[in-house]
Amino acid sequence: MSVSRRGFLQGLGVGRTSHASAFIAARGHEEYVAEAMQQQGRNGGMQRPALPPGAIRISSNENPLGPGKAAIDAILGRFPEANRYPFNSSPLDADLEILLAKLNTAKRENVVLGVGSQEILKNAARVFMSPTKHLVIPSPTYGDPAGFAQNVLKYTVKSAPVEGKTLKTDLAALLPHVKGAGLVYICNPNNPTATINSAQEIKDFIAEVKKTSPTTAILIDEAYCDYVSDPGFQTAIPIALTTPGVLVARTFSKAYGMAGVRIGYAIGDAATVKKMAAYKMPYNVNTFGVAAAIASLKDPQHIKEEAARNKAVRDFTVKALADLGYTSTDSQTNFIFTDIGKTMTAAAFRDACAAKGIMVGRDFPPLEKTWTRISLGTMEEMQKATDVFRGVLKPSTTTSSGKGQ
Ligand SMILES: Cc1ncc(COP(=O)(O)O)c(C=O)c1O
Repeated sequence: MSVSRRGFLQGLGVGRTSHASAFIAARGHEEYVAEAMQQQGRNGGMQRPALPPGAIRISSNENPLGPGKAAIDAILGRFPEANRYPFNSSPLDADLEILLAKLNTAKRENVVLGVGSQEILKNAARVFMSPTKHLVIPSPTYGDPAGFAQNVLKYTVKSAPVEGKTLKTDLAALLPHVKGAGLVYICNPNNPTATINSAQEIKDFIAEVKKTSPTTAILIDEAYCDYVSDPGFQTAIPIALTTPGVLVARTFSKAYGMAGVRIGYAIGDAATVKKMAAYKMPYNVNTFGVAAAIASLKDPQHIKEEAARNKAVRDFTVKALADLGYTSTDSQTNFIFTDIGKTMTAAAFRDACAAKGIMVGRDFPPLEKTWTRISLGTMEEMQKATDVFRGVLKPSTTTSSGKGQ
C-alpha cells in the first residue's frame, strides 16, 4: 500500500507520544550531527570540535531534554502546512504576540518576536546606539551585544566589573558610564556568572539611569528567568511596559528547550517596541517555532517541572564540586560558575575534561584564569561529568590562592 508524502506528514501528527519519545531518543545523534557539520564547515561559522562517541556536551546552556511534549506535537502537527508562508498558515506570528501580551497583561504592540533573542539583542544595538552613543555592560556578561556593537557596528562599549566576591552584576559600578549611552545591557540572571540582581536593585537602577540619562535605552535580558529559585528575583516586564526605552528580552532556547527552533521576543512600551520591529526581517519567525511556543506557553506545568529538575541537578553538581573544595557562585540558572583557579585555568580544565568526553564551557575573560562555566545536563550526565571532574581537579586542600594538589 502506498502512502502519499502528505499522508505520511499528517501521520506524524498522530500517535504523538511515541513520536515525542522518538525525538527525544534521537538526541543520541547529536555528536554525529556536530561532527558532520564541522566537517562541512557549516556551523554558522563556529567550528565545533568533533565529539568523541558518548561525549556529554555541557557547554552551551541548553536544556538537555529538548522541548516538552506539547511543543514537539505542535511542531510535528505543522508539517502538512510547511508549504505555506507564515502569514497564510496557522497559528500566525500575531497569535503568539497576542498570547505573550495576554500572559504579561500587555497589548500586542508591546511585543516583538525575534529569531531567538539574539535578533532582539543585535537589533537593540542597531536601534539605540550610534557612533556617539555607546553601550554599557557588566563584565563578564553574555558577549553577543558587545561583540556586535564593537566588531560589526564599530561603536564604543564601556564596562564595569562584576562584584569581586559574589560575582553579582555591580549595578552601582555601571552608573558612572551611563550618561549619554545609547544602550545599557543587563543580563538577569547573568551569563556566565549565574547570579541575579533583585527586583528592587533592578528597579532602583532603572530609575537612576533614567534620571542621569533619560534617553538611554535599557535592555534587561531574562533568558534564564525560568530557572531562578531565589524569591528576590522578579521579571522587569512590568517596569518595561511603563517606562519608555526599557525592554525585556526573553527566549524559548533555555527552559523551553528550543534553542534549535530559534524563537525569542522582547516586551516594552509600544513606541520602543515599534522601533525594534522596524529592524526585524519580514516573517522572521517560522510556523513551527510559533506553534511550539504557543503550545509550550499553554503548558506552564512543564516549565515548572523543568525548573525543579534543573534545580536538583544544580544542587547535586554544586555540592560535588564543593566536596572537592571548589566554590561556585549562587547559580540561578541552568549552568554553574565555579572557581577552579587554585588548581588550573578554565582552558586547562576544558581540555582535560574534553579528553574524557565531557565538553564544558569556553573562556570568559577577564575571569578565564580562575573560573569555569559548566552547563547542567541531566542528572545521569552530571553524575558522569562530576566523576570526571573529580579525576581532573582532584580534591583541593587549599582555601586561598595557593595551588591545590
Ligand atoms: C543571556 C543570553 N541571552 C541570549 C542568548 C541567545 O539565545 P537565543 O538567541 O537562542 O534566544 C543566550 C544564549 O546562550 C544567552 O545566554
